[in-house]
Amino acid sequence: MNQKSKTTEKSAPSKKSETGETPVEEKNNSDNKMELINTADSDSEKGKENNEQSKPLKKQDMDQNKHHSELEEFFISALQDIYYAEAAIEAALGKIKSKATTEELEEAMEDHQLVTKKQILRLEKVFKHLGKEAKKKKCDAIDGILKEVDEMVKNTKEGSMTRDVALIIGAQKVEHYEIATYGGLLQIAITLGHDKVADLLETTLDEEEETDEILTEIAEEYVNFEAKME
Ligand SMILES: [Fe+2]
Ligand SMILES: [Fe+2]
Repeated sequence: MNQKSKTTEKSAPSKKSETGETPVEEKNNSDNKMELINTADSDSEKGKENNEQSKPLKKQDMDQNKHHSELEEFFISALQDIYYAEAAIEAALGKIKSKATTEELEEAMEDHQLVTKKQILRLEKVFKHLGKEAKKKKCDAIDGILKEVDEMVKNTKEGSMTRDVALIIGAQKVEHYEIATYGGLLQIAITLGHDKVADLLETTLDEEEETDEILTEIAEEYVNFEAKME
């Protein structure tokens, strides 16, 4: 997956018409980013004319005014979802790391637990930048993946290499969920002009990708092979 590039260039896909929803005025602007900023303080829901002479907005004003858009609302909701997910992951890593057979995997999970704590704080910064309260929204996807990891632990023998194979696959499912989420959120942040937020999300995305690579290395270097010998 390569969602990291900070480009905002895009072709305009045609929108499905079946929804019957009236496209928000802002979405039809071809000069997407700057237009969105300039029209943000007009009340687009009531279809007022754009104010072409609008004054330059301070950064903070831009953030406050843009919360009317549906994309902005979706963005906040998705951030609440991953905020919940990170807390659930941090708790799960704390419980599960000691179930690993190899020290290497236990350490990798311990390291990632610390990184996850920082990611939670970083998300709190993101909410602050957006002028929003840091709130959690239940994420069924991560609850499901973590439940599956628990089952995989139960279904593998303690002290076996197969246990580590299962834990690595489980942890990578978590990482891939996070990579998909942060990759998408980063692009939305860029689109909405939240540059500082985009930087914060990109830092976390890099950490998730790095963790995924470390897990792959542990599996491929010896864990999978030794599990085959059991
Ligand atoms: Fe994370
Ligand atoms: Fe992670």
